[in-house]
Amino acid sequence: MPLTPLRQFALQAAAVILVLSLAWPLYLWQNQPMPWLETSLAIGAVAAVLATIARQPWWWRAIHGGFMPLVWFTHTLAIDPGWFLLAFILLLLVYRGALSGQVPLYLSNKQTVQALYDLLEQRGPCRFLDLGSGIGSTTIPLADNLPEHHFTGYENAPLTWLVGWILGVGRPNLRWRWDDLWAAPLGEHDVVYAFLSPAPMPKLWDKVKAEMKPGSLFVSNSFPVPGITPDRVIEVECTPPRPLYCYQL
Ligand SMILES: C[S@@+](CC[C@H](N)C(=O)[O-])C[C@H]1O[C@@H](n2cnc3c(N)ncnc32)[C@H](O)[C@@H]1O
Repeated sequence: MPLTPLRQFALQAAAVILVLSLAWPLYLWQNQPMPWLETSLAIGAVAAVLATIARQPWWWRAIHGGFMPLVWFTHTLAIDPGWFLLAFILLLLVYRGALSGQVPLYLSNKQTVQALYDLLEQRGPCRFLDLGSGIGSTTIPLADNLPEHHFTGYENAPLTWLVGWILGVGRPNLRWRWDDLWAAPLGEHDVVYAFLSPAPMPKLWDKVKAEMKPGSLFVSNSFPVPGITPDRVIEVECTPPRPLYCYQL
């Protein structure tokens, strides 16, 4: 498991242990029931302070501050625990990439797909690979509009993959794989597209350099390769900005 989830877990656990180790003996000593609302608020406050000391970004501080109070509030709703299990499984089926590699699901927009279409049309028939292909928002419209090109998508979140597979059915120029993007043979493709997150970019660049053939093109949506100047940046007109960083091999 990557470091970030472990670090956040440790931070929240530290706040829980700190507050409970003080509050529990105190209320036990006074023979009084624990005031769980106040305790959860205290845990939230301590966790937010710890997150600030640990220089976490503002959203992590907000998550830490709100987590235990929300747990308390949800507990008061007396919802059957089975629903939480179901929600957890569904989230895991869609957001597996966020847990295992800090890459959640969000989709390329129409303007980006148009920019990729222009790029691929200029290039002529070729093999295009989408690393972490989501539900096919990129590969499916491109496969429809560029029938001479061949498209492959690698997606490892089961439900996301299944939705993409269903949406992409019946397209002879689209191959849809339920697989880890790190297992994709990049050398078999002329254009490799990634819309991931800053976290995997250094490792991905090592893979790109090791496997992609001279003359092929690596395109990263929104997240440049740290320390490497792209050969071209396509400014896609959309909000928020989603530049396409192009690296010619
Ligand atoms: C930001 S989304 C981009 C989706 C799609 N490429 C698009 O442009 O609309 C990133 C996708 O990568 C997937 N992903 C994350 N880690 C992966 C891995 N190791 N192998 C395969 N897919 C992965 C996520 O599940 C998610 O669907």
